[in-house]
Amino acid sequence: MSAHPDETIDRELESALAFWRDAGLDTCVEDSPVDRVHVPQPVRRSPVIVGGAPAPTASAGPDVAAAVAEAKSRASEVETLDALAHAIRAFDGCPLSRLGAKQAVFARGKPDAQVMLIGEGPGADEDQRGEPFVGKAGQLLDRMLAAIDLKDEVFITNTVFWRPPGNRTPTLEEQMICAPFVERAIALVQPRLLVLVGGASAKFMLKSDEGILKLRGQWRDWRPSEGGQTYPALPMLHPAYLLRQPREKAKAWQDLLSLGTRLAGLDAPSLES
Ligand code: URA
Repeated sequence: MSAHPDETIDRELESALAFWRDAGLDTCVEDSPVDRVHVPQPVRRSPVIVGGAPAPTASAGPDVAAAVAEAKSRASEVETLDALAHAIRAFDGCPLSRLGAKQAVFARGKPDAQVMLIGEGPGADEDQRGEPFVGKAGQLLDRMLAAIDLKDEVFITNTVFWRPPGNRTPTLEEQMICAPFVERAIALVQPRLLVLVGGASAKFMLKSDEGILKLRGQWRDWRPSEGGQTYPALPMLHPAYLLRQPREKAKAWQDLLSLGTRLAGLDAPSLES
């Protein structure tokens, strides 16, 4: 006996929903579908510039330049991390804030940490909880930091503050718009060292076109876009990548040791005096 057409439709619907659930789609935001993963403008990587965020150029589009200018102005007005968190929450110039994210995700950790970690952007767990690196990748990151006695001793943020739809990589424009807030966070925390977690963070912060597998483990200098004090910055493999490629953990361990050694060296008495 053939199934009633209604049952067939129900089964097809169930199967389609199961497909989307398995693909990671966990929320229905609106009645009609919107392709939120589509990036309207072509993604351009900037030319290699050593240190400093790229100036908003005509090629980045007037909207991006205006949003960067607005972000700079708002970031420059705040004097505390709490005020910065508030300014980020109130800022609607980043397109990501209008693409389905539940909330802005700024930072967690010690406000006067010696080490500041900058990841790529919040994922689903972070979007839900409002704190960076709290999902599976974040838990691995915490275990890695604990291995060198740095758990709860770091300040953690991201290059963008809203979850990119479908967990895609943030675009250069989105990172540029959020950069003034990231720079202000660095200026307020005044860490001694930066750790750039994952390729999208390392490439953006260092203005490099090199891949993370090349960049990782190499200390570079990060310089604010307006000039001033430079910070030693260590690119490292993203814990989400390590969860997928556990054999790469050996490289991450080398980088953590390099971080621990560098930090200890900063505290060692100088031989010169
Ligand atoms: N991945 C990131 O880069 N940042 C987070 O906060 C979570 C996952």
